[in-house]
Amino acid sequence: MVSQAERASPASGGRPLGPVAAHDRLPQLEDLPDVAGKRVLVRCDFNVAVRRGRVVNDQRIRAATPTLQWLVRRGAAVTVCTHLGRPGGRVDPRLSLDHVRRVLHDLVPEAALMENLRFSPGEEANDPAFVEVLVRDQDLFVNDAFATAHRSHASVVGPPTRMPAAAGRLLSREVEVLTALRARPRRPFVAVLGGEARPELIESIRSLVRFVDTVILGGRLAFSAVSALAVLAGDRGTARLAGSPVPPEVWAELVGSGRLVVPVDVVTVADGDPGDARTYASVPAGSQAVDIGHRSAARFGQILSRAGTIFWDGQMGDPDGPSCSAGTRAVAEAVAGSSAFTVVSGAATVDTVERLGLGAFFDHVSTGGAASLELLRDGDLPGIRVLRHAATRSAPAG
Ligand code: 3PG
Repeated sequence: MVSQAERASPASGGRPLGPVAAHDRLPQLEDLPDVAGKRVLVRCDFNVAVRRGRVVNDQRIRAATPTLQWLVRRGAAVTVCTHLGRPGGRVDPRLSLDHVRRVLHDLVPEAALMENLRFSPGEEANDPAFVEVLVRDQDLFVNDAFATAHRSHASVVGPPTRMPAAAGRLLSREVEVLTALRARPRRPFVAVLGGEARPELIESIRSLVRFVDTVILGGRLAFSAVSALAVLAGDRGTARLAGSPVPPEVWAELVGSGRLVVPVDVVTVADGDPGDARTYASVPAGSQAVDIGHRSAARFGQILSRAGTIFWDGQMGDPDGPSCSAGTRAVAEAVAGSSAFTVVSGAATVDTVERLGLGAFFDHVSTGGAASLELLRDGDLPGIRVLRHAATRSAPAG
C-alpha cells in the first residue's frame, strides 16, 4: 500500500485541483468584522450516531474544532447550533444533545451548544420567525455545517441574510475540494457509489456519467441492477428484486452509456443464512444478495488502479450486513492504495474506512453524505449559495 507521503499526489500540499475561481470564493473567517467580544452563532452538523449513551464516531465534531477554536482564541462568545436525527419538529428526549455536548465540551470547553434545532418545526420549514429566534442576541454567523448545506433549513439559509456571515474552515475545505473535483479532476475520474438503494442515486448517476469517466456501482442498487439486467437478458432463474426503484430498461440505458460499471458477480445467501454464502453471476430466485463477488472486486480494483481522481460514497455490500464485508474492504484497499486524488464521503463509508485504519490514506475524508454527492452533481448547494451572497453585503470596507 502506498503511504500518503509516498503517493504520487497529483500536486503538492494536497491541492491538486487548481485555484478556486473568484466567483466561487466564500467569505472566510478573516473576512468577518473583528470577532473579539462578539457573539457568534456557529451552525455545525453534529448529526452523529449515538448508541447506548455514547457518540459512536465523533469525526464531525472533531472536524469543526479548528473553526470553533479560531473564534474562541480571538475572544468571541461562541454558541453552536446543530440538528440530530429527524425528530420532526417535536421534542424527543432520545435526540437531545447531551451526549454531543459532552464531546464538544472536551474539545472546546468555551463553546455553548443549543438544543436540537429540529425540536422546533420552524427549522425544517425555514420559518422566518424561527430565524429571528436564532439570530436574536447574535452579532455574527458562521456556517461550518457542510453535511447540511443541501438543506434549505432556517439555521442554514436564514442567518446569512440577517447578519455578517462566513464559512468555517470545514465548510470551506469541503467546498474547495468537491467543486474543484467537479471542475478540474485529474483523469480518469472514477466515482464509486454504493450503500442503500436510494432512488435519488439514479439521478446522481445520470448526472455523473456526463462528466466522470466511470461510475462503479455497488451496494443494494447494484444488486437490483444485476438482477434487472439478467431478467432483461432472459435469465429465468434470477430473482426479480421486489421494490426495485429502477426499471430494467433504465439500467440497460445507463450501462449502455459505457460509463457505468455494475458487479459481474454477487455473493448471495438463501433464507438470510450467512453460512450459505455463494457467488453467482446474478441473484438466484429465493436468494438475497449481500456483497459483490470477488471477480467484481478484482475488476473494480483494476479500474481504480488506473484512476487519476476517485470519489467514493457507499458500501459495496448490503448496508445492513457485516460492516467490513469483503467487497467494501477490497474497494477501500484499492482506493487507499491508488495514486489518484481520493475523496471518501458518507458516514457509513467513512466509518468503515476508519475502522480499517485507512483514513490517513485518503486525500480528503468528507463530513458530508448526501451534501457531498449533491455538490458534486449540481456544483452548488443552498447553504453555500446564500453565503456567497452574504459575502458582497458583509465584505469588510477597503
Ligand atoms: C446528514 O447526516 O447527512 C446530514 O446531517 C443531513 O441529515 P438529514 O438527511 O436528516 O437532513
